Amino acid sequence: MYESPESCAVPSYLLPEGASISSRGELLLHGVPVSQLAREYSTPLFVYDASHIRQRLRAAKGHFSGKVAYAAKAFFCKAMAEIVSEEDVYLDAASMGEIFVALAGGVTPEKIIFHGNNKSTEELRFALSHNVGLVVVDSFDEIERLEAIAEGTIRVGVRITPGIEAHTHEFIRTGQDDSKFGFNVQNGDAEMAIRHMSKSSVLDLVAVHAHIGSQIFSLDSFRQEVEVLSQLLADVDIAEVILGGGLGVPYVRGETAPSIDQWVATLDDYGFKTGLSKGRTLVVEPGRSIVATAGLTLYEIGTIKRIPGVRDYVSVDGGMSDNPRPVLYGSGYEAFMVQRMLDPHDAKYSIAGKHCESGDVIVRDAWLPSDIQGGELLATPVTGAYGFSMSSNYNKVPRPGVVFIDETGYRVVIRRETLQDLIRNDI
Ligand code: LLP
Repeated sequence: MYESPESCAVPSYLLPEGASISSRGELLLHGVPVSQLAREYSTPLFVYDASHIRQRLRAAKGHFSGKVAYAAKAFFCKAMAEIVSEEDVYLDAASMGEIFVALAGGVTPEKIIFHGNNKSTEELRFALSHNVGLVVVDSFDEIERLEAIAEGTIRVGVRITPGIEAHTHEFIRTGQDDSKFGFNVQNGDAEMAIRHMSKSSVLDLVAVHAHIGSQIFSLDSFRQEVEVLSQLLADVDIAEVILGGGLGVPYVRGETAPSIDQWVATLDDYGFKTGLSKGRTLVVEPGRSIVATAGLTLYEIGTIKRIPGVRDYVSVDGGMSDNPRPVLYGSGYEAFMVQRMLDPHDAKYSIAGKHCESGDVIVRDAWLPSDIQGGELLATPVTGAYGFSMSSNYNKVPRPGVVFIDETGYRVVIRRETLQDLIRNDI
């Protein structure tokens, strides 16, 4: 990681590992000016540092005694599946579609963990016919569906809601009566499901799964999860405990989060201390912490609207269709000029998207140079997770392309959609 000068437009911890700045103030990834990628592939464009992704997967594996599964929902495509396969990690898939892409990218079916609160019979049949390694059962209905279609023994896990719900910076213990996911521990459903599945002649119960939330900054929430699970499972004979994902990442200046190695080391440590991992394998399912900081989005500035005394708007050529997180969750992002990294970013703007909604604002208060012009390139960092994967064609805006770059070069891994793509399913 390069050392960002104080005056730099964005701190280095919000950029991919392969980032550096040229003497002219251009952002480079593995030595390539990102402006070159924008010129070649047009904007908006998602750019991922593929080495950063691999490095995060290796860090998680290297500091953990258990298994690491990448959560596909954060960002997925064939090229990402290839990385998962090459780095020899497991995969958390939450739909038939994610399984399909995983198989297309060469992921070993036995390494797929299949999740979902409403897996259809079709999806379950698909998963079983492709020999996925584990189906994490989420409801009594799903038990029935599985037993009805079973042709042999099915390796299953059980998703429980252990009465812990962690939110960023905050820790809330709830009765968990109000969750669409998993079997409720408080009301005895979890115990009943475990008892039923343990006796089933077709279901081979090998794992218990819990996931306490996402974008969590506090390791204490995870310690709590391990402690609660160790008590719950004290007398349960089970080979694997899946602890979910959820590690947070900094999105804006000043935020800090534990590193992925600190996270898995903490889980290991507590697994050992509480006895949870005694005779059992722990499994983690990180998504965001693997891909978020690896990615950034390049936009071209279009209209600049200055409303004296009110606000200056900078509109870019994308918006809520490629990054719905600000609109959905009020999430904060930084923005910076990729060819002017050393120029003072000291004028306040709101970065707006191009969609027909006033709420389509990507960054409410962004700091950019005061003399920016239409046609210049702007980037939002840390868009690698839940950006492209939640993108849409709202206003019939084609989805951006995705480029992977590493020390060996760069390539398009998802091509930009064309106008024809917008009517390919129309009959
Ligand atoms: N495992 C399970 C069962 C999950 O439900 C999730 C995320 C993960 C693993 C991965 O969690 P991560 O490490 O990425 O936090 N769209 C939201 C995030 C939704 C997360 C859903 N489940 C966002 O953009 O913040």
